[in-house]
Amino acid sequence: MGEDRAWSRRIPTTADPADVIALERTDAWADVLSHARALDATSLLSLFAGDATRAQTFRAQACGLTLDYSKQRIDARALQLLLKLAEARQFTLWRERLFSGEAINHTENRAVMHVALRAPRGVPMQADGKRVDADVHGVLDRMAGFCERVRGGDWRGARGDRIADIVNIGIGGSDLGPRMVCEALAAVAGPGPRVHFVANVDAAQLVAVLGQLDPARTLFVVTSKTFTTQETMANAHAARRWLVDALGADAVEKHFVAVSTNLEAVAAFGIDRANTFGFWDWVGGRYSVWSAVGLAVMLQVGPGRFAELLAGAHAMDRHFADAAPAQNMPLLLALLAVWNHNALGCPTQVIAPYAQRLACFPGWLQQLEMESNGKGVLRSGEPASQTTPAVWGDVGTNGQHAFFQMLHQGTGVHPVDFILPVAADHDLADQHRLLIANCLAQAAALMRGKTADEVRAELGARGLEGAALEQAIPHRVFPGNRPSNLILLPRLDAYHLGALMAMYEHRTFALSVLWGVNAYDQWGVELGKQLAARLLQSGVGDDPGLDGSTRSHLELLN
Ligand code: F6P
Repeated sequence: MGEDRAWSRRIPTTADPADVIALERTDAWADVLSHARALDATSLLSLFAGDATRAQTFRAQACGLTLDYSKQRIDARALQLLLKLAEARQFTLWRERLFSGEAINHTENRAVMHVALRAPRGVPMQADGKRVDADVHGVLDRMAGFCERVRGGDWRGARGDRIADIVNIGIGGSDLGPRMVCEALAAVAGPGPRVHFVANVDAAQLVAVLGQLDPARTLFVVTSKTFTTQETMANAHAARRWLVDALGADAVEKHFVAVSTNLEAVAAFGIDRANTFGFWDWVGGRYSVWSAVGLAVMLQVGPGRFAELLAGAHAMDRHFADAAPAQNMPLLLALLAVWNHNALGCPTQVIAPYAQRLACFPGWLQQLEMESNGKGVLRSGEPASQTTPAVWGDVGTNGQHAFFQMLHQGTGVHPVDFILPVAADHDLADQHRLLIANCLAQAAALMRGKTADEVRAELGARGLEGAALEQAIPHRVFPGNRPSNLILLPRLDAYHLGALMAMYEHRTFALSVLWGVNAYDQWGVELGKQLAARLLQSGVGDDPGLDGSTRSHLELLN
């Protein structure tokens, strides 16, 4: 605990957040770029051939996680120049600002303090100069008490039934985090209510979920930071009508709870203050699963497992805060991402978890990274040059039978993060060996490729010759030299999942520092919301401010 206190005592800084120029205009970047060009002709295979210790050198470990980045197209000099770039971008200073609770989200004048949500009890944490740790633990305690009552059967529905099903109604960060964690931890959840998620304004989702449920045994968790989000409010009102039709208006109290920062709007919806779990404006939606937004997770896995999730994330926070840059896993991941995207021109980033339970991980990471760093201007408001690549992916081995063709032989190079839990959470050991072999094989295949000579020898041995052989060769050649990271978890449990998620959160932050953007606002989602509201108000054709195409479809709204 003494160590924890020291860790949390950070020195606030006063430098100007708008004092930034585009990455590509810095001298440190010029050095990185010129080395990337010099290294371009050197293949990954020759880098391995020239260094017997490469697999050990380009490896980092923290919180039980291992990052093998030896299959990235870097050498020692590249790493050194990238670390200098981090220095030139004032990475350490920005990390201090983050942890000290400064209002680094300057366009909304907010601190960014999700790390306070997972700090152990008693560790002083500040946001905007105010202590927040007691409030955080106060809400966690209330959540735990509530979850124990629901899971233990003390909380009863309006007709006296135990709760069998939880429906989380929320979207974006109020859906993707809890949904992903619930799915990831289903195997370690133990007995408890089933948890369902409804996000889409397309009521097909709500109707499908409600169709399976008994109102008397269902509890709705309406999760929305703002409690104004159109999709969530539409689904919450429809769910309330469904419940009231079956059980009457008085039943709402026993079947609806809310998670929000907007307590007035929750009260106006008709949910009791006693059944409302609050959080704070210094928690960004996409960083909020550690707060009361994780209520559905806690209902599924119980307070003990939820605490393990927080402990894993906190361990990664400490690693990120304290580890030297050359060993700092989130920073290394960010530097490699900048190397691949900005220096080598790789257009996208693929996430391939070799774990069925991480099927929602790429979607969670899409919001985290693309809503954070999908920005066109620097913190100063000046144009940024090149910020986040598209992040996408799917679980292995499924992706191998879908988009991996493009990864191996397509014209672009798309770096892959392979994520692999080493131990299975089931007894089918042979299948787990298949999974591991496939993961390692894909990373190796992307790197080594297959030359025309290798193809010729292979097909020749099968008896193909002459023109038929020569025609077949180009289609079977793999260019190789395609980079990937391998991230190993000992197993997919709450602690290591927490560490994995926090690692990516800090990678996103480090990227924002390197690119010089504010990762914590999301003005880009507003225009579409405004226009949708305007369309809902417009009569057919009576809004001259709308373009002809949009006007021609307005009758669809009638
Ligand atoms: O529209 C984007 C967004 O604001 C996300 O940032 C957020 O996670 C999501 O909507 C949901 O917002 P809320 O939790 O306020 O309903």
